[in-house]
Formats: sequence, C-alpha cells, structure tokens
Amino acid sequence: MQVKDSVVLVTGANSGIGKHYIDVLLAMGAARIYAGARQLSSLDDLIAIDPDRIIPVALDVTNQATIDAAAMQCHDVNLLINNAGIGLLKGLISAPDLAAARAEMEVNYFGTLAMCRAFAPVLKANGGGASTPGGSTCIVNMLSILGRVNFPMNASYSASKGAGYILTQGVRAELAAQNTLVVGVMPATVDTKSSQDFPPPKVAPEMVVQEALQAVEDGVEDVYPGEQAKAMAAQLLSDPKGLEKAMATMVPQPV
Ligand SMILES: NC(=O)c1ccc[n+]([C@@H]2O[C@H](COP(=O)([O-])OP(=O)(O)OC[C@H]3O[C@@H](n4cnc5c(N)ncnc54)[C@H](OP(=O)(O)O)[C@@H]3O)[C@@H](O)[C@H]2O)c1
Repeated sequence: MQVKDSVVLVTGANSGIGKHYIDVLLAMGAARIYAGARQLSSLDDLIAIDPDRIIPVALDVTNQATIDAAAMQCHDVNLLINNAGIGLLKGLISAPDLAAARAEMEVNYFGTLAMCRAFAPVLKANGGGASTPGGSTCIVNMLSILGRVNFPMNASYSASKGAGYILTQGVRAELAAQNTLVVGVMPATVDTKSSQDFPPPKVAPEMVVQEALQAVEDGVEDVYPGEQAKAMAAQLLSDPKGLEKAMATMVPQPV
C-alpha cells in the first residue's frame, strides 16, 4: 500500500517514536492521521503542526472501552500503527514482584492484541479484499530486537516483546485472507527519552520510522531498522546461542 493519501492511527503518538511517525507520515502525504494518547492535552503541540490532518484520539490500549470508541471514531483507517509500549527495566528473578512483568504484558502484548482485534474489521472494510495482492491495508507493530533474544537488564520487557513477535505472526496469518499486511518492526536501541540512560549505539527515531513505512510500501513483513538491529538479526541466524550468551553478560544486580 502507499502511505500517500492513507488514513492512519498511531498509538502512543504523544512521545518518542510516535511523534516521529506523525512527522514522517505528514511528509509522505498521509491524508489523515489519528494521534492516539492517554492524555489528550499531551497532543496539543503535535496537533498544532497541522490541525486539518492530525486528529486527537483518547486511547489507552489497556482500556477496552477507549479502544472500542477509537475503532468507531477512526472508522476510515487503512493503516494502524501499534506504537504504544512500556519498558520498566526489571529482571525476572531480581524484580521484587510480578508487577512490572504484568504491566509490560498488559500494554505490549494484550494492548497490541486488543488493537489488532478491534481494527481488523475496520481495515477489512477500508480496502481489505482479494483484489490487491500484497496488502491493501496494513498493521505495523512496534516490537524490539529484544523480543528475539532476552536482554536480562530489561528481561520482562523482552518477554513481552517476544510475545508481541509471535502475536504478530498469528495476526498476519489470520488477516492474510483479507489482504492486510502485518509488519513487525524490531529496532535495537532507539535514541528517545525512554532510552536516555542506555549506552550507544542508538538508531535515530526518524530512521526507524522511515524504514518501517518503506516496508509498508514494499510489502516487507519483518523490519530491523538500523545497523545494530540488522547485525543482531544476522547473528540470530548464524549464531543464536552466541548472541544469547553475549546478552547474558548484562544482568541486573542480585537482590
Ligand atoms: N526507545 C527504544 O530504544 C525502543 C527500542 C525498540 C522498540 N521500542 C518500542 O517503540 C515504541 C515507542 O517507544 P519510545 O521509545 O517512543 O517510548 P516512549 O517515548 O516512552 O513512548 C511510549 C508511548 O507509549 C504510550 N503508552 C504507554 N502506555 C500506554 C497505554 N496503556 N495506552 C496508550 N499509550 C500508552 C506513552 O504514552 P504516555 O506519555 O501517556 O505514557 C508514549 O506515548 C514502544 O513500543 C517501544 O517498546 C523502543
């Protein structure tokens, strides 16, 4: 599908990579962009860029009522970008309890799943169908290379993104019949506020977004934006155990 003239919903649009999605979508000629956020006031600066094309939407991906309302409001969407996510930097054993692991699954896995379920019929109605090979509508799921190999310093986040990776395959299989392309985006560290305490290298968020939207246009299902993610993806093929062992050297402090 082409981004130009598309109607897009971006979740978590008020921050980090989400804001960059809005910028690049505007530049690529998207017709209308629904910007989802938990707090509508957090979108004020963004809407001011182009109030005709950017529409604020109250959306908490852990709240089914707001998801259902968004699916009604954004009934003309043909590109859904599931960008909202949290990473709480907890180990699996060293974390004091399961609170972080549960919260990450709620947003990163169940939130993404709930959005895919709510918008599958919307996408089907807006161009899904057998007549456009390669996909006439699209879902982009913002995953992480840490969903392909565990990073013990952010271990429960890794597990939730791993669940998101397998979810993405399943949604892709179920929506193939309606010609909805389902793209998984798996960057390594992206240069946003949420990764400010992480060491370099970091890929620029603009590059992540550009590679993701290029994949939408080219019909590419798995995207590894930036050099670090591409190198790790290559090692997952050539030496997965070596990558796991390298990541395993970075463990949280014992309790
Ligand atoms: N930064 C990285 O290094 C990196 C690497 C790989 C993948 N990613 C993924 O890329 C995505 C964006 O990351 P980012 O770096 O831009 O992070 P960010 O700046 O922390 O932005 C996360 C966004 O998700 C929203 N969000 C959180 N919980 C939500 C919920 N329950 N419902 C709706 N929105 C919610 C946040 O809204 P509030 O402002 O209301 O909290 C915020 O807009 C995430 O899925 C992340 O896992 C990031």
